Amino acid sequence: MRGSLRNAAQVLRPPEEGLPYLRRPKDLRAEPGSVAVAEGRIAGFEDDADADWVLDAAGCAVVPAFIDCHTHLPFAGWRAEEYEMKVTGVSYEEIAQRGGGIRSSARALAQAPDGEVVAQAGAIARDMLHSGTFGLECKSGYGGSVEGELRQLRLAHALEVEAPQARVAVTALLAHTVPDGFDADGWMDEVARLVPRVASERLAQALDIYVESVAFGNEHLEQMGDLATAHGLYLRAHVEQFATHRSVPVALAAGARSVDHLACLHPDDLRPLARAECAAVLLPGAEIMGAEETAPGRALADAGAICVLATDCNPGTSPLQSLPLIVGLAVRRYGWSAREALAAVTLNAAWVLGWSAEVGSIEPGKAADLLVLDGPIQHVPYRFGRNPVAAVIESGTPRWVRRDQEWRISA
Ligand code: NIG
Ligand code: FE
Repeated sequence: MRGSLRNAAQVLRPPEEGLPYLRRPKDLRAEPGSVAVAEGRIAGFEDDADADWVLDAAGCAVVPAFIDCHTHLPFAGWRAEEYEMKVTGVSYEEIAQRGGGIRSSARALAQAPDGEVVAQAGAIARDMLHSGTFGLECKSGYGGSVEGELRQLRLAHALEVEAPQARVAVTALLAHTVPDGFDADGWMDEVARLVPRVASERLAQALDIYVESVAFGNEHLEQMGDLATAHGLYLRAHVEQFATHRSVPVALAAGARSVDHLACLHPDDLRPLARAECAAVLLPGAEIMGAEETAPGRALADAGAICVLATDCNPGTSPLQSLPLIVGLAVRRYGWSAREALAAVTLNAAWVLGWSAEVGSIEPGKAADLLVLDGPIQHVPYRFGRNPVAAVIESGTPRWVRRDQEWRISA
């Protein structure tokens, strides 16, 4: 099967081939052109006269399909009442006292049947596809017990079938909240017993931990790092979200693949992070919905960090699921260009999940997972909140085309 995307106003291409991530996304090229695809791969940049299908991309941008490398799918239900409390001035402590927070999602998950959980997550994932999310990370973390965490990991794997996304990565967020009957140290002992099983049964590619005064400490992050190293898993960490704990140096010393949130990053930790082979995953959806501090996105980009964006889709801090929306937030909030924000949801996000040799940029030989946007890339952040995706190409085949854009495709 061969396809030809012709006459695009912009084709978003890396400055050179084979880069695992972009520390200088300003160098991305966005020039007029065409993309040829064959047998599921990007074949080149000529018009293919013998293509089985042709897409008229006049006025459009062709970009790599988006990757959401930090979500909390699958979860059960939502917490809209909690959001209303939050915005009308009820304190975090009081929300927790009234039964809100991570523990309430853990209770909801425990009560929901498997089919319901997978159906809710599958429906969200289908919506995500229409706004361009083609690869997706899922996490545990609402399990509330050893059995509960194992169940949530298995439900995350069910999304490999239930979600339309071609690629799903699973992360074991085994230290999210301290379950009833444990203190943080005691729960980490359980985690240490659980990780060998997670690794040997291939239940996750990464371990994750939430470092915060109400959750786990830097010593537990260090422990999680040792477990990740011992079992060949990536280490990821929720750090510096609500307060500064100086967790970044600890995560870097532990060889973390990513540090996520960073709204309260200590200024002295910015340069070491920017120099490390560790992604800075920024989550502006959580920042805006929770009235959090703003991560130093501009300074991280200027210092050459591997900058990444994700939705953090979860029922508490970020009930958002659209990466175009996240791109819009990041551009406004961090002072990024469209190129910087798009690199952060394509190649750099792919690298976090270990996928960047296969997807994340438009270069010959990579999987032909592409989006056709109905305007130039600069419109994604500028026409804030609007879905710009006109068509989704999966492995070289048009997978979804927006109704008003169907005229573009011919056989
Ligand atoms: O990434 N901060 C920790 N974990 C999630 C929120 C989870 C929840 O509130 O349910 C986050 O923001
Ligand atoms: Fe998160």
